[in-house]
This record gives sequence, C-alpha cells and structure tokens, in this order.
Amino acid sequence: AEKKRARMVAMNREAALYYMEILSRNPHSLNYLKNRGIGRDMIMAFGLGFAPAGGDQLLGHMKEKGYEEKELFDANLLSYNEEKNHYYDRFRNRLIFPIIDRKSRVVGFGGRVLDDSLPKYLNSSDTLLYKKSRELYGLNRVMKVSDRSRILLVEGYMDVISLHAAGIGYAVASLGTSLTREQARVIKRYGKQVFICYDGDNAGLQATNRAIDILAAEDIRPRIVVLEEGKDPDEYIRDYGKIAFEGKLNRGLSSIEFQVQNLEKNFHLEDAASLSEFLKGVTAILSKVKSPVERDVFAKKFAETYGVRPESFEGEIRRGNMKRP
Ligand code: GTP
Ligand code: MN
Ligand code: MN
Ligand code: MN
Ligand code: MN
Repeated sequence: AEKKRARMVAMNREAALYYMEILSRNPHSLNYLKNRGIGRDMIMAFGLGFAPAGGDQLLGHMKEKGYEEKELFDANLLSYNEEKNHYYDRFRNRLIFPIIDRKSRVVGFGGRVLDDSLPKYLNSSDTLLYKKSRELYGLNRVMKVSDRSRILLVEGYMDVISLHAAGIGYAVASLGTSLTREQARVIKRYGKQVFICYDGDNAGLQATNRAIDILAAEDIRPRIVVLEEGKDPDEYIRDYGKIAFEGKLNRGLSSIEFQVQNLEKNFHLEDAASLSEFLKGVTAILSKVKSPVERDVFAKKFAETYGVRPESFEGEIRRGNMKRP
C-alpha cells in the first residue's frame, strides 16, 4: 500500500504538471482567470491548470509516462464507461485546482467549468491518498506565508485564491462539504484565532451554524463575518479590498451574537407576542454558554439591545434547567 501511495503521489504530480502546461497555452482560460483577478503569480502559487475537452488527452499523456488505465482510474483521474468498456479523462474542459496537502503532495483535484454548465465544480472522490473530510484547500500555502496568528475558513476555491491574491494569506476552504471534526482539529493546530466567512446567502448561514457547533466541540470559538447581499469573500474583496475585509474580520461577531442576530430575522420585535417568543430563543442560545460569568455578560448586553430586563433571561434559564431530567 505504501508503494501504491507513493506511485499515486507521482501520478497526481504528473497530471497536475500536465494540466498546468495546458493552461499556459490556453488563452481562453487564462483570460477567464484574468477577468476574475487571478494572474500568473496566483496561478503558480496554487498550481492552477486546465483539462482539455477531448476526453483522452490526459490518458494519452499519462500512458506515455508509463501509467496504466486501472491505476489512473483508482487515482480518480479517469472515469470508466461500462457499456463501451473504456476509460476516459474524468476532468474535461475545466479549470483545474490541485488539492495539495500539508506535505506538499497533490492528493486530489477540483475542476470548474468556464461557463454556466453543470455541475459547476467536479471534485475528486476519496482515494488511497485523498480523504476529503481531512483536507482544507489552501492550507499548504497558508503554512508557507502566514504566521499562524489567524486562520480564516471560507467555502470555495475561488474565495481562497482571491483572498490570497489580495494579501489575506490565512484563508482555507472546506470545499462545499460541511466542516468535519477532522478539519476542525487541523484548524485548531494552524491558527490561534479562527474566523468564519462563508457566503452571505442562506446556504452560507446554515453552514456557518453547523461549523460553529463542530468547532465548539474542539473548543474553538470562531469570530463570524457575515457578508451582505449574498456576496462571497471573493466578490467582497474584489469590490471593497483588503482593508475593508480585514475591518470586517476585526468586527467579527462571536458565535452567540451571530446566532442571536440570525434568530432575530424570524421575528417582529415590535409585536409583544413575537418579542416574547424571540426572547425564549435567545434564552436557549444563552443556556449553551458554559461560563456563568460570560452568560451574564451576554444576557446584560442582549437585555440592553432588546429593551428587557437581564433577569428575564436568567429566570428562563433556571426554569429551563429544572425541566431537564
Ligand atoms: P465561483 O462561482 O467560481 O466563484 O465558485 P464559488 O466557490 O463561489 O462556488 P459556490 O459558492 O457555489 O460553492 C462553494 C464551493 O462548493 C466550491 O468552491 C466547490 O468546492 C463546492 N461546489 C460548488 N458547486 C459544486 C458542485 O456543483 N459540485 C461539487 N461537488 N462541489 C461544488
Ligand atoms: Mn456558496
Ligand atoms: Mn452557489
Ligand atoms: Mn464565488
Ligand atoms: Mn461562493
């Protein structure tokens, strides 16, 4: 297995170099990247490439290099058609984002279409080398350029690259899948202060909520940044720049503030009945704060914000506690 793994490392590396070579001679995709603010420096830093459309170019290249169809298939570089009994390139006509692990090995790939066709992204499935629940896109580069005082969790490939291009060298992506415990453990090792900035849409808010819980299980208290108008970090940093974005990070919400702010949207606080329901929700959020002192501080703060007495939260918490078996 060790030998197989080493061979897959070499194979992936060869494929990544092939895709890079294709990109360097493909004005259309270079232009696409340029229009998205990605120039030569980031292309090199992230090893970006392009997979040709035909369906057998990578296969042909890799055969020349002495690799066999079956092992290329096992590395997820080829797909298999059962009816026709033949192998063909898995990534076709897509920009290629190599996924590079902490040991600088190419363990998998993501591929994006250049137009609106679906699926927008295609990613490697798990292989001997790639466990998607463990990897964080961009971490390899974060280790090279950042001082580990911070780490910023975002959703996608383009978010990471755009942020790095703008000088935010501590961004990593969980790549669409919701954050896992394993990823949370890695995050804990690589950044003292953790920030989350997912897309400013509903999916992003839901994913943030889940990430908060998963990080909490590793005793990480992230600061949350919510972007307006459905923007993602890539769009935000290109519109407003690094200073504005770092300002947002510095004003990031605690998980508790984020959850309360999120909850508030579902209520009409000028209506007494609705306000009362909302306060119950706030109480439930507060009851998850372990430290009594901290709970008190938040209770006071929210009491002030919503014009009620802090004791109303405390009372509810005590009553809530007594109901528990
Ligand atoms: P751009 O449109 O290129 O800016 O991509 P994005 O990163 O903003 O895309 P989006 O917010 O839709 O998705 C975030 C991340 O989820 C992507 O970077 C991918 O890792 C993943 N993702 C998005 N769409 C798909 C898909 O169709 N299939 C899979 N497997 N993953 C996806
Ligand atoms: Mn999204
Ligand atoms: Mn989307
Ligand atoms: Mn985007
Ligand atoms: Mn996005």
